[in-house]
Amino acid sequence: MKVLLLGSGGREHALAVKIAQSQYLTKLFIAPGNPGTAECGQNVSLDISDFEAINNFVEENDIEMLVVGPEDPLVKGVVDYFADKPVSVIGPSKKGAALEGSKDFAKDFMVRHGIPTARYRSFDKSRLSQGYDFLDTLTAPFVLKADGLAAGKGVIIVDDLSEAKTTLNEMLNGKFGVASDKVVIEEFLQGIEVSVFVLTDGKSYKILPEAKDYKRIGEDDRGLNTGGMGAVSPVPFADKIFMDRVEKKIIEPTIKGLQKDEIDYKGFIFFGLMNCNGEPYVIEYNVRMGDPETEAVLPRLDADILDLFDGVANGALDAKQCAINPATAVTVVVVSGGYPEEYTKGFEIKGISSIKENKVYHAGTSVTGNKLVTSGGRVFAVTALSGSLTSALDSVYDSVSKISFDGSYYRKDIGKDLLKY
Ligand code: AMP
Ligand code: GLY
Repeated sequence: MKVLLLGSGGREHALAVKIAQSQYLTKLFIAPGNPGTAECGQNVSLDISDFEAINNFVEENDIEMLVVGPEDPLVKGVVDYFADKPVSVIGPSKKGAALEGSKDFAKDFMVRHGIPTARYRSFDKSRLSQGYDFLDTLTAPFVLKADGLAAGKGVIIVDDLSEAKTTLNEMLNGKFGVASDKVVIEEFLQGIEVSVFVLTDGKSYKILPEAKDYKRIGEDDRGLNTGGMGAVSPVPFADKIFMDRVEKKIIEPTIKGLQKDEIDYKGFIFFGLMNCNGEPYVIEYNVRMGDPETEAVLPRLDADILDLFDGVANGALDAKQCAINPATAVTVVVVSGGYPEEYTKGFEIKGISSIKENKVYHAGTSVTGNKLVTSGGRVFAVTALSGSLTSALDSVYDSVSKISFDGSYYRKDIGKDLLKY
């Protein structure tokens, strides 16, 4: 099978590694890819929101399967664009992608299908005063979410009621551009977060390994939110009882809801969950894999990923095997100094070739001349897969310490909170 993978981050490097291992692969292209994906296939310089350019490449190279990494092309309708073309696309239709593209749509979907989530209301500019009234009924902290995609920055949580009202006013007046033309206000959920992933053909599904993400830049979960500074899989507190509840109360009704609403969905669903005293609630849906969670989840997948994707594309996922490795994966993200705010690019990277025992996924790197240099905020994700959390932590931090470039930073406490379980 000839495959084109869209995206350029650590998630796509992890997907490319897995696809390259498939016995069904004849040729892998990655657009635009990165120096890591170049070791798994051929990078091609394509704009992933230019569907016509993608289609031309697909036709010229007889691509049989298109795998979409990030949410943007999905929310813009890449699956619908290719619907009548002879290529299988792994990803939801535009309507399905609205589960991530519109928080209001996602909340409405959850309520309609009885899926546990925080109590909420949505407001546009014409209903500002009703928004204030709804805030009056809630207790602190107050959670305000831009309806649309806002580069991961659209959620604001504040402790003070008057600050919440000011924030609502600012959001409805363009704080996040059109993404906050509508704002979802919801109850704060107290608990501990876990990410659960499934792959679905729209009828049946396979549950992939769950993961815990570390979102804040600073140790002990302090400081600004980032795309993710590390991940651990499996998650010790997501035990069988909890995961059974997730399947019954969240995964099954979501898949049935998609069918009832006649939403075409062939791809990944990422459930951002809160474990509130053992009961799962959905914080958000994403319509793709997580990053850096993918770099911890896929190394534990003992299945041929193209075989699974073939099941997804042909509505035959039910018959596929999806074995999971019980070992623990720990991923640590190495970032540029200053990230998630301003940072300088172009620093030479050293030490990668001395890491033999673990997998180094490229995220923000590029090759200049014959040097590997930094080209993004998130530079690498390093994953160790080992028999225990303790040994995986020792191993991953040993590898990470070998990477050097000016201003490099990583959190040293990834997974430490899970040692007590
Ligand atoms: P989201 O972009 O929806 O994932 O939200 C970003 C982060 O805000 C989540 O990962 C949570 O840590 C937090 N968050 C969002 N909604 C809630 C909520 N209702 N209660 C508590 N925390 C929340
Ligand atoms: N790591 C969180 C995300 O991919 O959205």
